[in-house]
Amino acid sequence: MVPAGPMQDDTLSAAAQLDVLQAALDQLDQGITVFDSELRLVGWNHRFFELLDFPAELARRGSHFSDFMRYNAERGEYGPGDVDKLVEERVAQARLFQPHSMERVRPSGNVIAVKGIPLPGGGFASIYTDITAQRGYVLKTKGLTKEFKGFVAVRNVDLNVRKGTIHALIGPNGAGKTTVFNLLTRFLGATAGTITYKGQDITHTRADTIARLGIVRSFQISSTFAHLSVRENVRVALQRKHGMDIHFWRPLRSLDVLNDEVDRLLADVGLESFAEIPAVELPYGRKRALEIATTLALDPEMMLLDEPTQGMGHEDVGRIASLIRKVAEGRTVLMVEHNLGVVANLSNWITVLQRGEILAEGTYGEVSRNPAVIDAYMGSAHA
Ligand SMILES: Nc1ncnc2c1ncn2[C@@H]1O[C@H](COP(=O)(O)OP(=O)(O)OP(=O)(O)O)[C@@H](O)[C@H]1O
Ligand SMILES: [Mg+2]
Repeated sequence: MVPAGPMQDDTLSAAAQLDVLQAALDQLDQGITVFDSELRLVGWNHRFFELLDFPAELARRGSHFSDFMRYNAERGEYGPGDVDKLVEERVAQARLFQPHSMERVRPSGNVIAVKGIPLPGGGFASIYTDITAQRGYVLKTKGLTKEFKGFVAVRNVDLNVRKGTIHALIGPNGAGKTTVFNLLTRFLGATAGTITYKGQDITHTRADTIARLGIVRSFQISSTFAHLSVRENVRVALQRKHGMDIHFWRPLRSLDVLNDEVDRLLADVGLESFAEIPAVELPYGRKRALEIATTLALDPEMMLLDEPTQGMGHEDVGRIASLIRKVAEGRTVLMVEHNLGVVANLSNWITVLQRGEILAEGTYGEVSRNPAVIDAYMGSAHA
């Protein structure tokens, strides 16, 4: 005999059963929304509104998907640009009803994973999970300071980079961004402060050891050989990786395996058709793609990118931005970038430096509306 639960009690009215269901949904740790084929809200729980902090008035049947997108666009979640256009882009994307998964960092610093599932009758359901705890800090600095003969280029910087995020370091010229990168990769020694990577103090660790621990830096230091072909450049980088591998007793990888890896990396960065060209003959934007490939060859857990789109035309910027998004999957990326469109588009979290100190931190929406940040940018030559 199965004892009858409330759901099996046919004396409960349909409305009461819905209430029971609603109460159960609201107790879930995950947020849920269901939009119909017209993109109207037909189902949700309160947890969704808590996790994403949308206004309570949107929590009603028939709220349109575009109302949510508009609210986000207006609070700067999608970066700069015309609100109508930003909303339109999101709605067009949603209308494709493709399964998707992504992560958003909330202004609170919480990381929310979003999974979208198309429904057989049209529309889609989305599940929101707070994964902040899994996204612990992979890299932390405390009181990081660098002094050059009495000039303090970096002062008392506490940087906290969450695992699996794209974190941007921005600020006017001379703010100390590259110096921070040099300190993190131990190209420079810190005057004061500590650096911790995955819980390990690396403040005094040698640069080559840092790379072996999984922090690899690209750009501003050219990692490519001009007269080797694109393919050979990637191959050399892979050999470097295997030479660096601490499991040196393993038999050398067969040539075929290496060739496969080279091909895969070339495909990953869209350079298959450039493979036999000497690196020096690559167009500028493609050269950056090659630099990304040689960095990827080391399979870093954390990539440091210093101005990846510097000096590029519009088309190259777009291509490198999508490449960064792709290589960031399963990795942590810390990047210095002056192109605020790219920053808005890619970063989960932003730290703004000014004269060596942290001026502001947050999501793009937050920092871009911060008066101190606006001042810092207006007062500099950079746009
Ligand atoms: N080796 C050095 N010796 C003396 N001063 C230095 C040295 N390296 C950097 N500086 C100074 O430290 C400050 C910060 O420089 P840094 O290159 O870190 O700035 P940045 O934020 O990367 O600027 P940009 O946006 O122009 O790349 C600058 O005033 C710079 O002149
Ligand atoms: Mg710099």
